[in-house]
Amino acid sequence: MMNHISSPQSASVVSIRELHDGTWVCWLDAPSIAAQAQPGQFVMISCGEGAILRRPLAVHQVNTESGHFALLFKLVGKGTRWLAELETGQAVNLLGPLGNSFKIAPGAKNILLIAGGLGIAPIRFLAQRGLEAGKSVILLQGAPNAGCLYPSALLPVNLKCHNATEDGSEGPRCMVTGILHKYIGWADQLFACGPENMYHPIALQNKRLFRVKPFSISLEVRMGCGFGACYGCSIKTRHGMRKVCQDGPVFDYNDITWGKSG
Ligand code: FES
Repeated sequence: MMNHISSPQSASVVSIRELHDGTWVCWLDAPSIAAQAQPGQFVMISCGEGAILRRPLAVHQVNTESGHFALLFKLVGKGTRWLAELETGQAVNLLGPLGNSFKIAPGAKNILLIAGGLGIAPIRFLAQRGLEAGKSVILLQGAPNAGCLYPSALLPVNLKCHNATEDGSEGPRCMVTGILHKYIGWADQLFACGPENMYHPIALQNKRLFRVKPFSISLEVRMGCGFGACYGCSIKTRHGMRKVCQDGPVFDYNDITWGKSG
């Protein structure tokens, strides 16, 4: 999808609640975003009355019939505290949808999704679209402990999910990358979203497979403007400097030069 600079718009809160352990989901009434957004895209949302800087949040779910879409966020500071205190009917100011999106190859039958922490936000949206397209989809989800995992009851029906936690409270005691080797052979195409340290172990295992299988990742970085004007999100890739907000956030895994962000 072509990136574009959309105009700021107002959206009213349909519902907001804490899902688990400081992670919140907020549904907003914004028909144009619900109609246009693709998995991997994000919005820039103002976190406060008159706030100048916006925060990037991935589109988590859409309901094109109602014109609503959902954002998932973790309560980590003043801005997200403001979001968590929103009330139904209250208006927020946002830009979007922004950035490029995950692309499922028409010929791929088996889709492997990898989500670390809040990386589940765009990955759940992608899982939904993959299942709607008739693909077999497996989700590998990792979190520090069982209480931080996205609730399985809220995942799409027919999505097979395997969890790993760092303290072993659910699934194997490891990062999600520790169970990846069991499923790579099955997958025709891989997608991932999570913190940068989730990708480093991947770089050390099964290098040949990662070179031959399409593998797209969505990067989580700090952003200023969200539409290519400030260069605050620049990273180094094998093709030179790229802006995560405009050239991404979805990149080919093999294009990223890890540990050399600009
Ligand atoms: Fe400003 Fe990407 S956030 S250029």
